[in-house]
Amino acid sequence: MSQCSVPVITIDGPGGSGKGTITQMVARKLGWHLLDSGALYRLTALAAARQGVQFDDEAGLVRVAASLDVSFEPTPPGEPAKVILGGEDVTDEIRTERCGDNASKVAVIPAVREALLQRQRDFRQPPGLVADGRDMGTVVFPDAPTKIFLTASAEERAQRRYSQLKDAGLSVNIDALLEEIRARDERDMNRSAAPLKPAEDAQVIDSTGLSIEEVLDRVMAASGQA
Ligand code: DC
Repeated sequence: MSQCSVPVITIDGPGGSGKGTITQMVARKLGWHLLDSGALYRLTALAAARQGVQFDDEAGLVRVAASLDVSFEPTPPGEPAKVILGGEDVTDEIRTERCGDNASKVAVIPAVREALLQRQRDFRQPPGLVADGRDMGTVVFPDAPTKIFLTASAEERAQRRYSQLKDAGLSVNIDALLEEIRARDERDMNRSAAPLKPAEDAQVIDSTGLSIEEVLDRVMAASGQA
């Protein structure tokens, strides 16, 4: 089977829209592979910081992105995949707000995106792939038969993130979270390389006020897999 004939469901959207959870649920339901493309940008930011590469050193960042020694290890259902960087488990470390913010900064550089492109396409393996990101439907898998763009209001996304962090025992300020979410949206939507926007043929689903099960039903229906 050639790679292009393997079906892909792309799930793009801003952080906190629920796309990570939905991508996992859809992949599990269908028994398909999963690509968490945001993790690759987070890993690039983390590896750069560890190697002392500055965020304005384009050539250095491209080198880091191209040589990422990363593997994703399956975990029990409901848990995010374990992320191993150079033999070390960095699953929790790449999920911090700081790492997300740094990822958004390295992601504005076109050459970094280019360096990660083939690595992302290589996840397209039978029987199918569910790909989570910002530009899955527009750039990485433009031929995907099903493209979803998941949104939610910034307020609702801040509230969801607040609850997640609180459950994890962290003390956070919701106004500061909302500010960060707005700043990151602004950067992700207004960069010239692969900005966050729905593909022309994407189906837009607004998850504000919907339960995760309701969103899952809509995505499965949209993909013709319900
Ligand atoms: O989905 P996430 O929060 O893990 O992504 C972290 C950052 O990586 C996000 O702010 C923008 C960037 N990103 C991107 O530019 N393109 C993608 N396909 C995925 C993430």
